[in-house]
Amino acid sequence: MNSVDTRETELSVGVYKSRGVSLVRGEGALLWDDQGKQYIDCTAGIGVANIGHANPVLVNAIAEQAKRLITCAGIFPNDVRAECMEKLVEISPAGLERVFLCNSGAESIEGALKFVRQTTGRNKVVSANRGFHGRTMGALSATPSKKYQDPFSPLVPGFSYVPYNQVEALKKAVDENTAAVLLELVQGEGGVYAAEQSYIDAAVEICKANGAMLIIDEIQTGFCRTGKMFACEHYGVEPDVLCLAKGIAGGVPMGAILVNGKIESSVGAHGSTFGGNPLACAAFLATIGVMEREQLAERAAELGDRFVRKLLKDKPPQVRAVRHVGLMIGIELKVRSTPYLQKLQDQGVLALPAGTTVLRLLPPLVISEAQMDEVLDRLLTILESETESAPA
Ligand SMILES: Cc1ncc(COP(=O)(O)O)c(C=O)c1O
Repeated sequence: MNSVDTRETELSVGVYKSRGVSLVRGEGALLWDDQGKQYIDCTAGIGVANIGHANPVLVNAIAEQAKRLITCAGIFPNDVRAECMEKLVEISPAGLERVFLCNSGAESIEGALKFVRQTTGRNKVVSANRGFHGRTMGALSATPSKKYQDPFSPLVPGFSYVPYNQVEALKKAVDENTAAVLLELVQGEGGVYAAEQSYIDAAVEICKANGAMLIIDEIQTGFCRTGKMFACEHYGVEPDVLCLAKGIAGGVPMGAILVNGKIESSVGAHGSTFGGNPLACAAFLATIGVMEREQLAERAAELGDRFVRKLLKDKPPQVRAVRHVGLMIGIELKVRSTPYLQKLQDQGVLALPAGTTVLRLLPPLVISEAQMDEVLDRLLTILESETESAPA
């Protein structure tokens, strides 16, 4: 039994359900708790530590930049920030040519919503059922979940929701008052559901026909997670606005909004004290360097395919379906996933839920084949053992 440091539980406002282990150290795809127990990490800080924990290139870059300049307000141009913006534009889908830097995923969505409102003079936004875009008021308004939304009404007006992957419903929902359609290419929190190519093609056309902007939320799918630098590459889609965060700076808080030439903004329209601070920008540059040199996109594609192929070879009876794109893996069970997550944790593997029945794996992309095999072995052992769980 772990003895957990209870100070945090006592002091925090209590919005997180504790998983009952205090994590104190990480290296690559491994984590250690305060009792010295080792875990294979299949959470990566919820899709953040794509280049692994304590990556020495990142650690060095942060230390060096901290010695030079940590903070620099947006009113003063900065060398590292300029390099960061240049690199973001270089690696992102064609057409995206300007950047706003912020500090998180939700903030990236908030800024995107402001930019499309300002550009179009419209306030209607269409997003998809089962989608997740964050918990601040605008992002929450785009996240159609009763559990997340109901306690906080009234929400921001103008939002409507459509079933994912259904072209006709999207066609009906978008009109000449629509500022934007906001979509994930693979719904992460919703349970790892990928968009169909025809749906994304249609979304592009529907937006074009109505003068609406297409915002793609790659906060979870970006930065090699799905086997490409961005999931947009799988679909050949060039959005008007791209929202990024999570893996962007290896764990240093950062978000980014990339926009194409259609998007208008003006002095004073938006801003952020910490957004684009040189420390995060240096962390971003180091992180991207590792991703490119170590070909982490290709690695994510190979490791994800390999894991799922092996899992499906002898699919355990509790498994209803397995969905994955790269190292974004959703294992849908016929029963609630929580007891299995707990058992996995006891066996030294940290994984995530997505909805009530999906076990989600988002390991650091530097995880080894042997570590992924170990995760599979432990998962199969747990699925074979008697685990009490109510049918979903
Ligand atoms: C697709 C997507 N969008 C937005 C967010 C919100 O990001 P943050 O928690 O950094 O605000 C998340 C977080 O899980 C996400 O997965």
